[in-house]
Amino acid sequence: MANCLVCNNQFEPFISFGKQPIANGFLSEKDFKNEYFFEMKVGHCSACNMVQLLEQPKREQMFNENYAFFSSTSTYMEKHFKAFAENIKDTYLKSEDPFIVEMGSNDGIMLQNFKDWGIRHLGVEPSANVAKVAMSKGINSIVEFFDEEVSQKIVAEHGKADAFLTANVMCHIPYIHSIAKGIKNLLSEKGILAFEDPYMGEIMEKASYDQIYDEHVFFFSALSVQRLFEMHNMELIDVQPQITHGGSMRYILAHKGAYTVSDNVSKIIEKEKSLGIDNPKKYLELKKRIEKSRDDLIALLKQLKSEGKTIVGYGATSKSTTILNYCQVGTGLIDFISDTTPIKQGKFTPGMHIPVKKYEEFQKNHPDYALLFAWNHKNEILDKEGDFKGKWITHVPDVHVFGLEN
Ligand code: SAH
Ligand code: TYD
Ligand code: ZN
Repeated sequence: MANCLVCNNQFEPFISFGKQPIANGFLSEKDFKNEYFFEMKVGHCSACNMVQLLEQPKREQMFNENYAFFSSTSTYMEKHFKAFAENIKDTYLKSEDPFIVEMGSNDGIMLQNFKDWGIRHLGVEPSANVAKVAMSKGINSIVEFFDEEVSQKIVAEHGKADAFLTANVMCHIPYIHSIAKGIKNLLSEKGILAFEDPYMGEIMEKASYDQIYDEHVFFFSALSVQRLFEMHNMELIDVQPQITHGGSMRYILAHKGAYTVSDNVSKIIEKEKSLGIDNPKKYLELKKRIEKSRDDLIALLKQLKSEGKTIVGYGATSKSTTILNYCQVGTGLIDFISDTTPIKQGKFTPGMHIPVKKYEEFQKNHPDYALLFAWNHKNEILDKEGDFKGKWITHVPDVHVFGLEN
């Protein structure tokens, strides 16, 4: 039993993923013995429809000067954030000298566009190493966890904001009411909040349970987002599905009454109801599908291994931490994981301690099978890997093997 972080109603978890480590906590051998684990359980609050973790590590354990996720490792994501920034500029930045704030600006993947256009901007990013990369590109950033207090400091120094942007961050923050109050306080009269995160509707459809890891405390839907921000006198004015991170949703919100509400909002809410986002039984079904996905993946990997095949992981994603620990897959089945991020290379994966190697190791040494952990970047990766003659393994929307021909 737990209390909902949004509405305080009591609810039960519908699934446990067992003991899980810090998803981005890639580590050296000397740190194995002190590794932190927590029991990762997820529940659906039937009062406000927010799907959420019941327990989460402390924020400083996840976001610090050793944070391993650098946004700019994907060229597709660079294009995505440029289009996001352009869309906001063209639709909502109508004032003479607009000011925008981004929460969780990481290495500056989105803000670099506003910087290039000469638009006043500020990134709020607590992980010092990634923030440093942004600052070195000339992007205005502060190393802080955004909350109500930081919002007041920003208003005192820079005035109100025309847009508050954030991607793949809102779903990370359990003190969500402090964030909402901070945003409400920061936005000018016509100011808008635009944020995007992996979408509960997609997780439900694809049983893509690897979106669930320590950092993601919330799995949003239009139903739950609308409800959450109503509590702060803000209105959901538009929703725009995105293909990023395996299926995300962009939510646009404003002060209540400031804009007309798009028809997209009621349409998506109807769709969510037909999917069963508000139906507790659907979460029990989801649990069964997740368990089947786990059992199928273990069986496939064991089968291939017994045939003497070599299997390597592609992309040491945070998502892979959930899969590996939930399925208890270690070096007995996967030789190593290749990844382009320097801070991950030479380290071991959280919990299961599979070595992470440079991308060149994959190129030099093509395995028989590559398990595509970065499945959300499938197009970008398959385009790049035309020379790979082995087979790919994926677990979404179900466990299967495919070659380049399909
Ligand atoms: N927006 C980027 C980065 C997402 S990763 C992208 O979509 O690629 C999540 C980021 O949120 C991390 O860089 C983390 O340091 C940051 N973060 C976590 N809590 C935060 C908070 N309270 N305020 C601002 N940033 C936060
Ligand atoms: P991503 O799927 O964006 O993140 P998450 O950690 O949120 O699950 O992470 C992609 C990871 O895959 C990142 O560590 C970089 C790596 N990667 C490659 O190794 N090669 C590639 O071509 C791409 C696109 C990513
Ligand atoms: Zn609730």
